Amino acid sequence: MADLDVKVFRFDPDTDDKPRYDTYQVTYREGMTILDVLFYILENLDGSLAFRYACREAICGNCAMYVNGLQRLACKTQVKDLKTTELFIEPLPSLPVIKDLVVDLDSFFGKYVSIKPYLIPAESPPEKEYYQSQSDRHVLNEAVDCILCGACYSSCPAVWTDEDYLGPAALIKAFRFYADSRDGAQKERLDLVAHEHGLWRCHTVFNCVEVCPKGIDNTSAIQYLKKQAVGRALGMGVGKRAAT
Ligand code: SF4
Ligand code: FES
Repeated sequence: MADLDVKVFRFDPDTDDKPRYDTYQVTYREGMTILDVLFYILENLDGSLAFRYACREAICGNCAMYVNGLQRLACKTQVKDLKTTELFIEPLPSLPVIKDLVVDLDSFFGKYVSIKPYLIPAESPPEKEYYQSQSDRHVLNEAVDCILCGACYSSCPAVWTDEDYLGPAALIKAFRFYADSRDGAQKERLDLVAHEHGLWRCHTVFNCVEVCPKGIDNTSAIQYLKKQAVGRALGMGVGKRAAT
């Protein structure tokens, strides 16, 4: 593959009047990821470039950014898979920029915390451990894979137009605990999400599903919670999700 022509969004709100795009020529090497490209720039061309990362293996969720028109993890995205030598790297859209490719995730994590992302058992703790059958755990398999990268949140038109919308990541976590066989706070959990800035704001656009680097079907989980909320309103109670 030929060398890369890389345009990178640059903005420091403390010193810049407006954002700009800087262009860098990067020497391609086999196996290069977008994160490798950013390190090449940082170490060889411009030490002032700011970006976030930690694990480098698609686990921590820190390196989500907007690459060639799609939310992606920089450490997971192979340059050769983009099938172009022209790269366009920007911060996650719809989130405030702290510097260059680093965005402010305070609102994202504030919404995550608001859905109470922890077990609230109905009974007092058992002597040894909470038992969960394999089939009950299977229900949660997708949802527990969420690494809170924010890609879905950034891609969602409902987030763009309603700053109070919980967004797909908080809602998949709400599902994750609602459907957990060990949890006993289903009524409270539905109350936290069944409102105009929660479940009902999702218009099933599926952007979140398209961009999720973990292949999580947020939309189906949101639809499931909607059905549970409607069932409760009709006096049908609430129930666990059948094993899939
Ligand atoms: S659901 Fe997927 S895209 Fe959204 S925060 Fe979790 S891992 Fe990231
Ligand atoms: S650096 Fe951790 S997910 Fe990319």
